[in-house]
Amino acid sequence: MEIFDTLESEVRSYCRLFPAVFERAVGSQLFDETGKVYIDFFSGAGTLNYGHNNPVLKEHLLDYIRRDGITHGLDMATTAKRALLERFQRVILEPRGLRYKVQFPGPTGTNAVEAALKLARKATGRTHVLYFNNAYHGLTLGALAVTGSASKRRAAGVPLLNTTPLPFDGDLGEIDTVEHLRGLLENPSSGIDLPAAVIVETVQAEGGIRAAGLDWLKRLAELLQRHGILLIVDDIQVGCGRTGTFFSFEPAGVVPDIVCLSKSISGFGLPMALVLLRPELDVWAPGEHTGTFRGNNLAFVTAAAALDYWQDDSFSRDVLRKAGLVRRRLQEIAAHHAAICGPVRGRGLIQGLALEVDGLATEVARGAFQRGLVLEPVGPKDEILKILPPLVIEDAELQQGLDILEVALSAAAGAAAAAGDSLVGRGARQAISPPAGP
Ligand SMILES: Cc1ncc(COP(=O)(O)O)c(C=O)c1O
Repeated sequence: MEIFDTLESEVRSYCRLFPAVFERAVGSQLFDETGKVYIDFFSGAGTLNYGHNNPVLKEHLLDYIRRDGITHGLDMATTAKRALLERFQRVILEPRGLRYKVQFPGPTGTNAVEAALKLARKATGRTHVLYFNNAYHGLTLGALAVTGSASKRRAAGVPLLNTTPLPFDGDLGEIDTVEHLRGLLENPSSGIDLPAAVIVETVQAEGGIRAAGLDWLKRLAELLQRHGILLIVDDIQVGCGRTGTFFSFEPAGVVPDIVCLSKSISGFGLPMALVLLRPELDVWAPGEHTGTFRGNNLAFVTAAAALDYWQDDSFSRDVLRKAGLVRRRLQEIAAHHAAICGPVRGRGLIQGLALEVDGLATEVARGAFQRGLVLEPVGPKDEILKILPPLVIEDAELQQGLDILEVALSAAAGAAAAAGDSLVGRGARQAISPPAGP
């Protein structure tokens, strides 16, 4: 690890929690340079829904490269982009009755969020955007202004303006937070300027695996529509099948004005992002928002091939079946360790186990890693273990990973108890600190 420690910036984070040099990866398994195998409950922070080096996508990619297909295309028309757009329309948009235009921003999630925020402001002529407590939308300045984490916001070094946080579903206990927002919007003295948009994750991932209720989402969408406020759904981490449907908002019966996709949209871990926008909102002037890598045609090839998974509902049903397995097992683990585990949370194959002892989730993640399982703690205090396996994971690997998780949890809790240590505050003292988000 020496070259990483001496040459690479202190900004690196995941390599501190997962101290191995990885060499290759297949399906739901990673291999380090010593040959040690790790089951992946992390999926590149949501980028590898279809597994590492998915063999079908790999063949499409290799074939395309062998044919000297265009790799870098800015926003020029290419055969690879045409094939993707046609398939996306036929396999994803049309069957769902969705009418969107497609924008290719730069290839990261935060690029998509920046584009969505700029577009919402331009289309409405308003500046203000509302977001939710614990939101994570990326770390460039616009996206950071709608991200909750205090430490991430501090790193901006400038004031983050023109945004206001709102309580998410459940944040005010008995008080319904859509009603709370209605009160703000309908009170001319609330101090909230009429916003251009509200941006929301249907399941807050980095924020602690907090799933908004489907009814809450529906009522939020209705309220915004009544006030002419745009709804931006950030489906960067929980889209592309993570919750069981291609878009996470489908079961809520909601049609957002703007949707951000990235991470698993290329299906192969290749950088790519999309912004879907209602056609009426397409007020961009040519070249008004660009990005050198917005035409990653290698990603377009694998993205088009990945849509094979969505030709019928069999993949979706299988994701939900596996989600049920994970949920039940996590509930058993939580019941068995009731003194330290909070409720299991999440939707589909993004599930979280809350550990109600400071620092314990990071300890468990470290112990799990030593035992051959990759998973990360998330949440405001890194108190939630995020279970995010590739959607294509085999049942046996899923069980094996959950077994490792339980052993690591028992060991960490046992070690803490033996040391007479409540673990409270240990997280802050770790030499190996938890990762700082994707
Ligand atoms: C919901 C959500 N939005 C945006 C982002 C930012 O994506 P990127 O790290 O590719 O900029 C992330 C990253 O984890 C995310 O989870």
